[in-house]
Amino acid sequence: MKTTGILGCAVVGLGLFLKVAAFAGPLKIVLPPETASFRANPGAELAMAQCLQCHSAEYITSQPPLGRDAWKASLAKMRSKYGAAVSPETEALLLDYLTGTYGPSAGQPPQR
Ligand code: HEC
Repeated sequence: MKTTGILGCAVVGLGLFLKVAAFAGPLKIVLPPETASFRANPGAELAMAQCLQCHSAEYITSQPPLGRDAWKASLAKMRSKYGAAVSPETEALLLDYLTGTYGPSAGQPPQR
């Protein structure tokens, strides 16, 4: 009698497991479209290639106007803390772009 009870539980348990497993198809996640992008200036494509691998452009465009040293520190952090692969040649071009486009002398960004 006792064995039948345990067996019954096992059968019900297996049945439940199979039901749940049948529902667990591939999970479809639809992300909202990316709307933020870099402002057009020489170097924007480089920034797209280098900086959008891990996060959106907003991480950059929403910063206060940063001077070259601050952008340099930011790139150093991306490299050392997060593993961004920015070569020294690329870094110089990126710094020109970031400072010229999102630096203190770049003017006000367009209203969003
Ligand atoms: C290898 C991944 C990776 C790459 C490539 C990368 N970042 Fe980041 N970045 C991160 C992570 C992780 C954060 C922090 C996210 C958080 O804290 O929510 C971050 C955050 C930032 C921030 C926000 C301020 C801060 O320091 O947290 C700025 C600005 C930034 N990144 C700039 C850049 C620029 C410019 C590039 C292109 C040269 C770049 N990132 C490329 C990983 C990366």
